[in-house]
Amino acid sequence: MNEQQGVFKNLYKNLMTPILQKDSGIDAEYLTNLSLSLLTFTSRKHHWPVVSSLLKNLNEEFSVVDERLSQRICGIDFCNPIGLAAGFDKNGNAANIWKDFGFGFAELGTVTKFAQNGNPKPRLFRLAKEEAALNRMGFNNNGAENLVKNFNKQGIEFKQNRKNICLGINFGKSKITDISKATDDYLTSLKLLIPYCDYAAINVSSPNTKGLRKLQDPILLKELLKEIKCLPNCPPLFVKIAPDLSFKDIEDICQLIIEESIDGIIATNTSIDRLGLENRKVEQTGLFLSEERGGLSGRPLQKKANQILKHIHKMDKKIILIGVGGIDSPESAWERICSGASLIQLYTGWIYKGPQLVPDILEGIIKQLNKHKLSNIKEAIGSDLKWVD
Ligand SMILES: Cc1cc2nc3c(=O)[nH]c(=O)nc-3n(C[C@H](O)[C@H](O)[C@H](O)COP(=O)(O)O)c2cc1C
Repeated sequence: MNEQQGVFKNLYKNLMTPILQKDSGIDAEYLTNLSLSLLTFTSRKHHWPVVSSLLKNLNEEFSVVDERLSQRICGIDFCNPIGLAAGFDKNGNAANIWKDFGFGFAELGTVTKFAQNGNPKPRLFRLAKEEAALNRMGFNNNGAENLVKNFNKQGIEFKQNRKNICLGINFGKSKITDISKATDDYLTSLKLLIPYCDYAAINVSSPNTKGLRKLQDPILLKELLKEIKCLPNCPPLFVKIAPDLSFKDIEDICQLIIEESIDGIIATNTSIDRLGLENRKVEQTGLFLSEERGGLSGRPLQKKANQILKHIHKMDKKIILIGVGGIDSPESAWERICSGASLIQLYTGWIYKGPQLVPDILEGIIKQLNKHKLSNIKEAIGSDLKWVD
Protein backbone atom coordinates (compact mmCIF):
# COMPACT_ATOMS: atom_id res chain seq x y z
CA MET A 1 0.00 0.00 0.00
CA ASN A 2 1.50 3.37 -0.93
CA GLU A 3 1.25 6.50 1.20
CA GLN A 4 -1.72 7.86 -0.74
CA GLN A 5 -3.61 4.59 -0.29
CA GLY A 6 -3.74 4.63 3.50
CA VAL A 7 -5.64 7.94 3.71
CA PHE A 8 -9.19 6.65 4.11
CA LYS A 9 -8.15 3.73 6.28
CA ASN A 10 -6.40 6.11 8.67
CA LEU A 11 -9.26 8.58 8.57
CA TYR A 12 -11.68 5.85 9.62
CA LYS A 13 -9.29 4.59 12.30
CA ASN A 14 -8.77 8.01 13.82
CA LEU A 15 -12.33 9.29 13.52
CA MET A 16 -14.57 6.27 13.93
CA THR A 17 -12.69 3.65 15.93
CA PRO A 18 -12.70 5.64 19.20
CA ILE A 19 -16.48 6.13 18.86
CA LEU A 20 -17.07 2.46 18.03
CA GLN A 21 -15.12 1.25 21.06
CA LYS A 22 -17.90 2.38 23.42
CA ASP A 23 -21.59 1.50 23.69
CA SER A 24 -22.36 5.06 24.81
CA GLY A 25 -21.50 8.34 23.16
CA ILE A 26 -22.75 9.19 19.70
CA ASP A 27 -25.99 7.31 18.98
CA ALA A 28 -25.47 4.42 16.54
CA GLU A 29 -28.35 5.37 14.25
CA TYR A 30 -27.34 9.04 14.23
CA LEU A 31 -23.84 8.01 13.20
CA THR A 32 -25.19 5.77 10.43
CA ASN A 33 -27.38 8.56 9.08
CA LEU A 34 -24.50 11.02 9.19
CA SER A 35 -22.29 8.69 7.16
CA LEU A 36 -25.15 8.02 4.76
CA SER A 37 -25.69 11.74 4.16
CA LEU A 38 -22.07 12.04 3.09
CA LEU A 39 -22.33 8.95 0.89
CA THR A 40 -25.60 10.18 -0.65
CA PHE A 41 -24.01 13.45 -1.66
CA THR A 42 -20.98 11.65 -3.08
CA SER A 43 -23.11 9.20 -5.05
CA ARG A 44 -25.31 11.93 -6.55
CA LYS A 45 -22.37 14.16 -7.45
CA HIS A 46 -20.04 11.37 -8.55
CA HIS A 47 -19.44 13.13 -11.88
CA TRP A 48 -18.17 16.38 -10.28
CA PRO A 49 -14.40 16.49 -10.89
CA VAL A 50 -13.48 16.83 -7.22
CA VAL A 51 -15.85 14.03 -6.18
CA SER A 52 -14.78 11.77 -9.00
CA SER A 53 -11.13 12.23 -8.06
CA LEU A 54 -11.98 11.41 -4.43
CA LEU A 55 -13.79 8.26 -5.58
CA LYS A 56 -10.83 7.29 -7.71
CA ASN A 57 -8.60 7.46 -4.63
CA LEU A 58 -11.16 5.52 -2.60
CA ASN A 59 -11.28 2.87 -5.30
CA GLU A 60 -7.49 2.61 -5.48
CA GLU A 61 -7.35 2.11 -1.74
CA PHE A 62 -10.10 -0.44 -1.29
CA SER A 63 -10.55 -2.38 -4.51
CA VAL A 64 -8.65 -5.59 -5.22
CA VAL A 65 -8.70 -6.66 -8.84
CA ASP A 66 -7.93 -10.32 -9.49
CA GLU A 67 -9.52 -12.65 -12.04
CA ARG A 68 -9.42 -15.52 -9.53
CA LEU A 69 -12.03 -13.70 -7.41
CA SER A 70 -14.55 -13.34 -10.22
CA GLN A 71 -17.52 -15.64 -10.82
CA ARG A 72 -20.57 -15.79 -13.00
CA ILE A 73 -23.59 -16.74 -10.91
CA CYS A 74 -27.14 -16.90 -12.31
CA GLY A 75 -25.88 -15.01 -15.34
CA ILE A 76 -24.51 -12.19 -13.19
CA ASP A 77 -20.82 -11.29 -13.28
CA PHE A 78 -19.44 -10.73 -9.81
CA CYS A 79 -15.93 -9.25 -9.86
CA ASN A 80 -15.43 -10.44 -6.29
CA PRO A 81 -17.53 -12.35 -3.72
CA ILE A 82 -18.04 -9.61 -1.10
CA GLY A 83 -21.29 -7.68 -0.91
CA LEU A 84 -22.72 -5.04 1.35
CA ALA A 85 -25.55 -6.68 3.33
CA ALA A 86 -29.10 -5.33 3.30
CA GLY A 87 -30.12 -2.69 5.80
CA PHE A 88 -27.29 -0.20 5.52
CA ASP A 89 -28.36 1.48 2.29
CA LYS A 90 -32.11 0.97 2.61
CA ASN A 91 -33.01 3.72 0.13
CA GLY A 92 -30.24 3.05 -2.37
CA ASN A 93 -28.73 6.44 -1.64
CA ALA A 94 -25.16 5.40 -2.37
CA ALA A 95 -25.86 2.84 -5.08
CA ASN A 96 -23.25 4.36 -7.38
CA ILE A 97 -20.31 4.18 -5.07
CA TRP A 98 -20.33 0.82 -3.27
CA LYS A 99 -17.96 -0.53 -5.91
CA ASP A 100 -15.46 2.16 -4.89
CA PHE A 101 -15.39 0.64 -1.40
CA GLY A 102 -14.24 -2.56 -3.10
CA PHE A 103 -17.56 -4.41 -2.92
CA GLY A 104 -18.37 -6.86 -5.71
CA PHE A 105 -22.07 -6.17 -5.14
CA ALA A 106 -24.44 -4.33 -2.84
CA GLU A 107 -27.86 -5.38 -1.59
CA LEU A 108 -30.08 -2.33 -1.22
CA GLY A 109 -33.20 -2.20 0.96
CA THR A 110 -35.13 -3.62 2.62
CA VAL A 111 -37.63 -1.71 0.56
CA THR A 112 -41.38 -1.97 1.12
CA LYS A 113 -44.39 -0.98 -1.00
CA PHE A 114 -45.22 1.91 1.33
CA ALA A 115 -42.81 4.41 2.83
CA GLN A 116 -42.64 3.92 6.60
CA ASN A 117 -40.85 5.32 9.62
CA GLY A 118 -39.99 2.08 11.35
CA ASN A 119 -40.05 1.50 15.10
CA PRO A 120 -39.68 4.16 17.81
CA LYS A 121 -36.12 5.30 18.62
CA PRO A 122 -33.71 4.36 20.09
CA ARG A 123 -33.66 1.20 17.98
CA LEU A 124 -30.02 0.52 17.15
CA PHE A 125 -27.48 -0.26 19.86
CA ARG A 126 -23.75 -0.90 19.76
CA LEU A 127 -22.42 -3.78 21.81
CA ALA A 128 -18.84 -2.64 21.40
CA LYS A 129 -16.97 -5.22 23.45
CA GLU A 130 -18.57 -8.07 21.50
CA GLU A 131 -18.34 -6.22 18.15
CA ALA A 132 -22.07 -6.80 17.83
CA ALA A 133 -25.26 -4.76 17.41
CA LEU A 134 -28.88 -5.02 18.44
CA ASN A 135 -31.40 -3.47 16.08
CA ARG A 136 -35.15 -3.19 15.85
CA MET A 137 -35.30 -0.67 13.03
CA GLY A 138 -38.51 -2.09 11.51
CA PHE A 139 -37.86 -1.48 7.80
CA ASN A 140 -37.65 2.32 7.98
CA ASN A 141 -37.49 3.23 4.29
CA ASN A 142 -38.92 5.67 1.79
CA GLY A 143 -40.79 3.06 -0.24
CA ALA A 144 -40.30 1.38 -3.62
CA GLU A 145 -41.35 4.39 -5.74
CA ASN A 146 -38.82 6.57 -4.00
CA LEU A 147 -36.08 4.03 -4.65
CA VAL A 148 -36.71 4.41 -8.39
CA LYS A 149 -36.49 8.20 -7.99
CA ASN A 150 -33.27 7.83 -6.05
CA PHE A 151 -31.78 5.72 -8.84
CA ASN A 152 -32.69 8.42 -11.33
CA LYS A 153 -31.10 11.12 -9.19
CA GLN A 154 -27.84 9.18 -9.20
CA GLY A 155 -27.98 8.27 -12.87
CA ILE A 156 -28.28 4.54 -12.10
CA GLU A 157 -29.09 2.70 -15.34
CA PHE A 158 -31.27 -0.33 -15.92
CA LYS A 159 -29.29 -3.46 -15.15
CA GLN A 160 -28.56 -4.41 -18.76
CA ASN A 161 -26.84 -1.05 -19.41
CA ARG A 162 -24.99 -0.88 -16.12
CA LYS A 163 -21.27 -1.43 -15.87
CA ASN A 164 -19.33 -2.36 -12.76
CA ILE A 165 -22.16 -2.07 -10.24
CA CYS A 166 -23.95 -5.25 -9.35
CA LEU A 167 -27.07 -4.41 -7.34
CA GLY A 168 -29.38 -6.74 -5.50
CA ILE A 169 -32.58 -5.36 -4.00
CA ASN A 170 -34.06 -6.74 -0.79
CA PHE A 171 -37.87 -6.72 -0.57
CA GLY A 172 -40.01 -6.80 2.56
CA LYS A 173 -43.62 -6.35 3.61
CA SER A 174 -44.98 -2.97 4.71
CA LYS A 175 -46.06 -2.75 8.34
CA ILE A 176 -49.60 -1.63 7.48
CA THR A 177 -50.19 -4.53 5.10
CA ASP A 178 -51.86 -7.50 6.72
CA ILE A 179 -49.88 -10.72 6.43
CA SER A 180 -52.70 -12.22 4.30
CA LYS A 181 -52.03 -9.49 1.68
CA ALA A 182 -48.24 -9.77 1.85
CA THR A 183 -47.90 -11.11 -1.70
CA ASP A 184 -49.44 -7.98 -3.20
CA ASP A 185 -47.03 -5.83 -1.19
CA TYR A 186 -43.95 -7.69 -2.47
CA LEU A 187 -45.27 -7.81 -6.06
CA THR A 188 -45.94 -4.06 -6.21
CA SER A 189 -42.40 -3.19 -5.14
CA LEU A 190 -40.86 -5.82 -7.40
CA LYS A 191 -42.76 -4.67 -10.49
CA LEU A 192 -41.36 -1.16 -10.03
CA LEU A 193 -37.81 -2.28 -9.40
CA ILE A 194 -37.25 -5.33 -11.62
CA PRO A 195 -35.49 -3.28 -14.32
CA TYR A 196 -32.83 -2.32 -11.78
CA CYS A 197 -32.28 -5.57 -9.86
CA ASP A 198 -29.51 -7.96 -10.77
CA TYR A 199 -31.13 -10.21 -8.18
CA ALA A 200 -34.03 -9.91 -5.75
CA ALA A 201 -33.77 -10.95 -2.12
CA ILE A 202 -37.10 -11.95 -0.63
CA ASN A 203 -36.86 -11.03 3.01
CA VAL A 204 -39.09 -13.20 5.19
CA SER A 205 -36.80 -13.17 8.17
CA SER A 206 -36.57 -9.75 9.77
CA PRO A 207 -37.58 -10.06 13.43
CA ASN A 208 -38.76 -6.44 13.55
CA THR A 209 -41.93 -6.57 11.44
CA LYS A 210 -44.77 -8.32 13.24
CA GLY A 211 -45.66 -11.63 11.63
CA LEU A 212 -43.09 -11.42 8.82
CA ARG A 213 -41.23 -14.56 9.86
CA LYS A 214 -44.50 -16.52 9.49
CA LEU A 215 -43.84 -16.26 5.75
CA GLN A 216 -41.02 -18.76 6.27
CA ASP A 217 -43.76 -21.37 6.67
CA PRO A 218 -43.34 -23.56 3.56
CA ILE A 219 -47.00 -23.27 2.51
CA LEU A 220 -47.06 -19.46 2.71
CA LEU A 221 -43.58 -19.14 1.24
CA LYS A 222 -44.49 -21.36 -1.70
CA GLU A 223 -47.52 -19.20 -2.48
CA LEU A 224 -45.43 -16.04 -2.32
CA LEU A 225 -42.56 -17.36 -4.43
CA LYS A 226 -44.86 -18.85 -7.07
CA GLU A 227 -46.45 -15.44 -7.67
CA ILE A 228 -43.12 -13.62 -7.72
CA LYS A 229 -41.66 -16.09 -10.19
CA CYS A 230 -44.51 -15.38 -12.62
CA LEU A 231 -43.58 -11.71 -12.90
CA PRO A 232 -42.34 -10.74 -16.37
CA ASN A 233 -38.51 -10.55 -16.49
CA CYS A 234 -38.26 -11.86 -12.95
CA PRO A 235 -34.60 -11.61 -11.83
CA PRO A 236 -32.76 -14.41 -10.00
CA LEU A 237 -34.42 -14.92 -6.62
CA PHE A 238 -32.83 -15.45 -3.23
CA VAL A 239 -34.78 -16.06 -0.02
CA LYS A 240 -33.28 -14.52 3.10
CA ILE A 241 -33.80 -16.74 6.14
CA ALA A 242 -33.50 -16.33 9.90
CA PRO A 243 -30.83 -18.00 11.99
CA ASP A 244 -33.47 -19.02 14.51
CA LEU A 245 -35.08 -21.75 12.39
CA SER A 246 -34.68 -25.39 13.38
CA PHE A 247 -32.76 -27.68 11.00
CA LYS A 248 -36.11 -29.31 10.18
CA ASP A 249 -37.61 -25.92 9.19
CA ILE A 250 -34.54 -25.22 7.08
CA GLU A 251 -34.81 -28.56 5.35
CA ASP A 252 -38.47 -27.84 4.50
CA ILE A 253 -37.49 -24.48 3.03
CA CYS A 254 -34.69 -26.08 1.00
CA GLN A 255 -37.10 -28.65 -0.37
CA LEU A 256 -39.38 -25.86 -1.50
CA ILE A 257 -36.51 -23.84 -2.99
CA ILE A 258 -35.57 -26.84 -5.11
CA GLU A 259 -39.16 -27.68 -6.12
CA GLU A 260 -39.87 -24.10 -7.15
CA SER A 261 -36.48 -23.62 -8.89
CA ILE A 262 -35.56 -20.64 -6.73
CA ASP A 263 -31.92 -19.68 -7.24
CA GLY A 264 -30.65 -19.51 -3.71
CA ILE A 265 -30.74 -18.62 -0.04
CA ILE A 266 -29.22 -15.78 1.94
CA ALA A 267 -28.26 -17.13 5.33
CA THR A 268 -28.78 -15.38 7.68
CA ASN A 269 -30.64 -12.39 9.01
CA THR A 270 -30.20 -11.15 12.61
CA SER A 271 -31.09 -13.43 15.52
CA ILE A 272 -33.73 -13.17 18.21
CA ASP A 273 -31.63 -15.61 20.23
CA ARG A 274 -29.31 -13.74 22.61
CA LEU A 275 -26.47 -16.13 21.76
CA GLY A 276 -25.06 -16.31 25.29
CA LEU A 277 -25.47 -12.57 25.87
CA GLU A 278 -28.80 -12.77 27.77
CA ASN A 279 -27.35 -11.03 30.81
CA ARG A 280 -25.53 -8.33 28.88
CA LYS A 281 -26.96 -4.90 29.75
CA VAL A 282 -27.82 -2.42 27.03
CA GLU A 283 -26.29 0.76 28.36
CA GLN A 284 -28.82 3.19 26.85
CA THR A 285 -31.90 1.44 28.25
CA GLY A 286 -30.51 -0.27 31.34
CA LEU A 287 -32.23 -3.50 30.30
CA PHE A 288 -30.68 -6.92 29.77
CA LEU A 289 -30.48 -8.18 26.19
CA SER A 290 -32.91 -10.92 27.21
CA GLU A 291 -35.48 -8.16 27.92
CA GLU A 292 -34.92 -6.20 24.71
CA ARG A 293 -36.67 -6.70 21.39
CA GLY A 294 -34.69 -6.83 18.16
CA GLY A 295 -32.16 -8.85 16.22
CA LEU A 296 -28.57 -9.50 17.16
CA SER A 297 -25.82 -9.20 14.55
CA GLY A 298 -22.06 -9.26 14.46
CA ARG A 299 -19.47 -11.59 15.92
CA PRO A 300 -21.79 -13.52 18.32
CA LEU A 301 -23.79 -14.61 15.26
CA GLN A 302 -20.80 -15.98 13.36
CA LYS A 303 -20.90 -19.59 14.55
CA LYS A 304 -24.64 -20.05 14.17
CA ALA A 305 -24.85 -18.42 10.74
CA ASN A 306 -21.99 -20.63 9.54
CA GLN A 307 -23.63 -23.80 10.94
CA ILE A 308 -26.87 -23.04 9.11
CA LEU A 309 -25.15 -22.33 5.83
CA LYS A 310 -23.08 -25.49 6.12
CA HIS A 311 -26.21 -27.54 6.82
CA ILE A 312 -27.95 -26.20 3.71
CA HIS A 313 -24.90 -26.83 1.55
CA LYS A 314 -24.65 -30.41 2.80
CA MET A 315 -28.34 -30.92 1.98
CA ASP A 316 -28.16 -29.71 -1.61
CA LYS A 317 -25.14 -28.33 -3.39
CA LYS A 318 -27.25 -26.83 -6.17
CA ILE A 319 -28.74 -24.15 -3.91
CA ILE A 320 -26.62 -21.03 -4.34
CA LEU A 321 -25.73 -19.59 -0.97
CA ILE A 322 -24.97 -16.06 0.11
CA GLY A 323 -23.38 -16.23 3.56
CA VAL A 324 -23.91 -13.40 6.01
CA GLY A 325 -23.70 -13.05 9.78
CA GLY A 326 -20.67 -12.20 11.88
CA ILE A 327 -18.10 -12.18 9.08
CA ASP A 328 -15.41 -9.84 10.35
CA SER A 329 -12.04 -11.17 9.21
CA PRO A 330 -10.32 -12.94 6.30
CA GLU A 331 -10.45 -16.18 8.34
CA SER A 332 -14.22 -16.02 8.98
CA ALA A 333 -14.83 -15.12 5.32
CA TRP A 334 -12.74 -18.06 4.13
CA GLU A 335 -14.56 -20.40 6.54
CA ARG A 336 -17.96 -19.27 5.17
CA ILE A 337 -16.86 -19.81 1.57
CA CYS A 338 -15.43 -23.23 2.36
CA SER A 339 -18.70 -24.06 4.15
CA GLY A 340 -20.58 -23.48 0.89
CA ALA A 341 -21.10 -19.75 0.36
CA SER A 342 -20.62 -18.62 -3.24
CA LEU A 343 -20.89 -15.02 -2.07
CA ILE A 344 -20.63 -13.37 1.33
CA GLN A 345 -21.99 -10.15 2.79
CA LEU A 346 -20.80 -7.76 5.47
CA TYR A 347 -22.59 -5.37 7.77
CA THR A 348 -21.69 -5.19 11.47
CA GLY A 349 -18.10 -6.36 10.99
CA TRP A 350 -17.60 -3.76 8.26
CA ILE A 351 -18.68 -1.02 10.66
CA TYR A 352 -16.37 -2.14 13.48
CA LYS A 353 -13.36 -2.99 11.32
CA GLY A 354 -13.88 -0.20 8.79
CA PRO A 355 -13.74 -0.26 4.98
CA GLN A 356 -10.28 -1.83 5.09
CA LEU A 357 -12.05 -5.11 5.88
CA VAL A 358 -13.01 -5.61 2.23
CA PRO A 359 -9.46 -5.55 0.77
CA ASP A 360 -8.17 -7.45 3.82
CA ILE A 361 -10.63 -10.27 3.14
CA LEU A 362 -10.00 -10.29 -0.61
CA GLU A 363 -6.23 -10.39 -0.16
CA GLY A 364 -6.70 -13.13 2.44
CA ILE A 365 -8.74 -15.18 -0.02
CA ILE A 366 -6.11 -14.79 -2.75
CA LYS A 367 -3.40 -15.97 -0.34
CA GLN A 368 -5.49 -19.02 0.58
CA LEU A 369 -6.11 -19.81 -3.09
CA ASN A 370 -2.35 -19.74 -3.59
CA LYS A 371 -1.65 -21.88 -0.54
CA HIS A 372 -4.20 -24.48 -1.57
CA LYS A 373 -3.17 -24.25 -5.23
CA LEU A 374 -6.64 -23.31 -6.44
CA SER A 375 -7.10 -21.35 -9.65
CA ASN A 376 -10.47 -19.70 -8.85
CA ILE A 377 -12.61 -19.01 -5.81
CA LYS A 378 -15.22 -21.41 -7.19
CA GLU A 379 -12.93 -24.30 -6.28
CA ALA A 380 -12.95 -23.24 -2.62
CA ILE A 381 -16.75 -23.11 -2.27
CA GLY A 382 -17.92 -25.92 0.00
CA SER A 383 -14.44 -27.46 -0.01
CA ASP A 384 -14.10 -27.50 3.80
CA LEU A 385 -10.50 -26.35 3.33
CA LYS A 386 -9.01 -24.85 6.47
CA TRP A 387 -7.28 -21.49 6.74
CA VAL A 388 -3.53 -21.95 6.41
CA ASP A 389 -1.18 -19.35 7.98
C1 LIG B 1 -28.92 -1.85 11.68
C2 LIG B 1 -29.23 -3.05 10.86
C3 LIG B 1 -30.28 -2.99 9.95
C4 LIG B 1 -30.58 -4.10 9.17
N1 LIG B 1 -31.60 -4.01 8.25
C5 LIG B 1 -31.86 -5.06 7.45
C6 LIG B 1 -32.86 -4.98 6.46
O1 LIG B 1 -33.48 -3.94 6.28
N2 LIG B 1 -33.10 -6.06 5.70
C7 LIG B 1 -32.39 -7.24 5.84
O2 LIG B 1 -32.65 -8.20 5.11
N3 LIG B 1 -31.42 -7.33 6.77
C8 LIG B 1 -31.13 -6.30 7.56
N4 LIG B 1 -30.14 -6.39 8.49
C9 LIG B 1 -29.44 -7.68 8.64
C10 LIG B 1 -28.13 -7.74 7.85
O3 LIG B 1 -28.34 -7.62 6.48
C11 LIG B 1 -27.41 -9.06 8.16
O4 LIG B 1 -28.19 -10.13 7.66
C12 LIG B 1 -27.17 -9.28 9.64
O5 LIG B 1 -26.84 -8.07 10.28
C13 LIG B 1 -26.05 -10.28 9.89
O6 LIG B 1 -24.84 -9.84 9.33
P1 LIG B 1 -23.70 -9.08 10.19
O7 LIG B 1 -23.47 -9.92 11.42
O8 LIG B 1 -22.53 -9.00 9.28
O9 LIG B 1 -24.23 -7.75 10.54
C14 LIG B 1 -29.82 -5.30 9.30
C15 LIG B 1 -28.77 -5.34 10.20
C16 LIG B 1 -28.45 -4.25 10.98
C17 LIG B 1 -27.30 -4.33 11.95
